[in-house]
Amino acid sequence: MRTLVRAAALSGMACLLLSSSASSQTPTQGADTAAGQLLFNNACRTCHTVKEGDNRQGPNLHRIVGRKAGSLPGYGYSSAMKEAGFAWDADKLDGFMANADAVVPGNTMKPYGGLASAEDRAKIIAYLQSGAAGQ
Ligand code: HEC
Repeated sequence: MRTLVRAAALSGMACLLLSSSASSQTPTQGADTAAGQLLFNNACRTCHTVKEGDNRQGPNLHRIVGRKAGSLPGYGYSSAMKEAGFAWDADKLDGFMANADAVVPGNTMKPYGGLASAEDRAKIIAYLQSGAAGQ
């Protein structure tokens, strides 16, 4: 009997752990992720998806945070992007969204006017880092 109770308690805990890691974010971050998805749809989705293997005019951004710049095998990057020589992190993404040419001079992400709002850029990054974008 005791074992049963303990097993039930343990599986309850496992459920808790699972559900908390599935949404491993505070409510505020969750809201940012949702807002980020909207912003992404407006500013990026004409050219990008976050689906693995789904390259459009731009390369897919599945698991972009931590990915080496210009590294997807099935996509024809500019030589500027292929030779950028860094991995995307929040800082690089922020700079690139604000002014792509300042981070990767000679890139072919065009026409893209830049996203002036730091707050909007942070929300898009929150979305790109979230499970919704494959992290
Ligand atoms: C007009 C189409 C277009 C829009 C809009 C656009 N991109 Fe791009 N993006 C591209 C293209 C094309 C490339 C490839 C550039 C190159 O090879 O120089 C690219 C490359 C990138 C890369 C580098 C990916 C890699 O594999 O290294 C990132 C990151 C990126 N875009 C993020 C964004 C984000 C975030 C937005 C929205 C804020 C956005 N892009 C909006 C077309 C676009």
